[in-house]
Amino acid sequence: MLKIILQLATIVYICARCSGMNNGVARTPPMGWLAWERFRCVIDCKTYPDSCISEKLFTDMADRLVEDGWKDVGYKLVNIDDCWSSKQRNDVNELEPDPERFPSGIPYLANYMHMRGLQLGIYGDYGTLTCGGYPGSMGYEKVDAQTFARWGVDMLKFDGCYSNSTQQEIGYPLMSKELNMTGRHMIYSCSWPAYQGGLPPKVDYKLLGEICNLWRNYGDIQDSFESVMTIINWWGDNQDVLIPAAGPGMWNDPDMLIGGDFSLSYDEARLQFGMWAIIAAPLFISVDLRTMDPKFRSMLQNEQVISVNQDPLGIQGRRVKMDKTNVQLWVRPLVGEEQAIAIFSTRTDGVPYEYYFTLSDLGIQKPASEYLMTDILDGTEQKVVEYTDTLSADVNPNGIRMFRAIPLK
Ligand code: GLA
Repeated sequence: MLKIILQLATIVYICARCSGMNNGVARTPPMGWLAWERFRCVIDCKTYPDSCISEKLFTDMADRLVEDGWKDVGYKLVNIDDCWSSKQRNDVNELEPDPERFPSGIPYLANYMHMRGLQLGIYGDYGTLTCGGYPGSMGYEKVDAQTFARWGVDMLKFDGCYSNSTQQEIGYPLMSKELNMTGRHMIYSCSWPAYQGGLPPKVDYKLLGEICNLWRNYGDIQDSFESVMTIINWWGDNQDVLIPAAGPGMWNDPDMLIGGDFSLSYDEARLQFGMWAIIAAPLFISVDLRTMDPKFRSMLQNEQVISVNQDPLGIQGRRVKMDKTNVQLWVRPLVGEEQAIAIFSTRTDGVPYEYYFTLSDLGIQKPASEYLMTDILDGTEQKVVEYTDTLSADVNPNGIRMFRAIPLK
């Protein structure tokens, strides 16, 4: 009898794991465009025909991704956020898009993306309502998962407004199971930890890695540098919890990239982008791609920074130094024992700050004696340095410098 119980328990355990997010997608952090931070819940298309949440917004962004070089460097997902659906489910309890703003339907949009080598993401919420007051998925997990799969959706961002912690404990794993059961491999983004403060014991990162591909850990990003810095500092302060949670197929999500919107300077936008690469963050741009400054566009398309973000090892970077100078030193181990290094400053004294460091500050596990250092943000300047050399970098106020260190011998 005991043997049978043990065998059953093993089967249940294995199936619990095999029904998790071992779905083969998002092996590197997903990249694309997401509507929310820039376009919010504007639904008045008469007054705002170009910026309301409508199929035009998403086809416009898809066209820009293809024509302005974004797709070629990896930005492939076009993600709808809140406020896309009708206020009521249809007579067979399915979600439907607002018929005036999405007259061609979601399969049309999915097809529009797929024809161009892009992918479509959609937004749902486990609660009784979405944060914007549209129908939630509680009690409709199966029908919603099946609807999204039938429509050809490639990613679901699953929010948590209007649900409590007990309900979320049931809902997030259940939706994961329902998505898997559709047989369509959709990237599953869970906002669950953000609703529970982002830290253990309330948040179980091991479980999240099994059921979700990425998760929002923290509050919403807003259009300000202060908001960006609050997020970066939270990531640094809680890195011992967050670093082990991340890896191929499972990512901490500090929220959207906002460089090119109204508030960040060029230096601040580079700082955000560089740091999102160091912390292996999903790269979802929430900017009006039709009107953005080309200088910000080329910066967000920097392939050397993207290759740090997309490193196949998927190890999240670490803050190694933060002192009274208001300069921080971060490092991310890359494939082939290479290292990505970021130094950023939030000083206000008006001149670039000359920061001194050595590679030995970085705590590299198996250091080589010599490294080739490439400046990956400001061009391709390269130099060979010894592990113990004192190096220096000029860092602008609210600016960042980034290097890739390649071991030579
Ligand atoms: C929450 C999420 C945001 C966005 C809005 C939509 O605040 O965290 O990212 O999806 O809801 O209402």
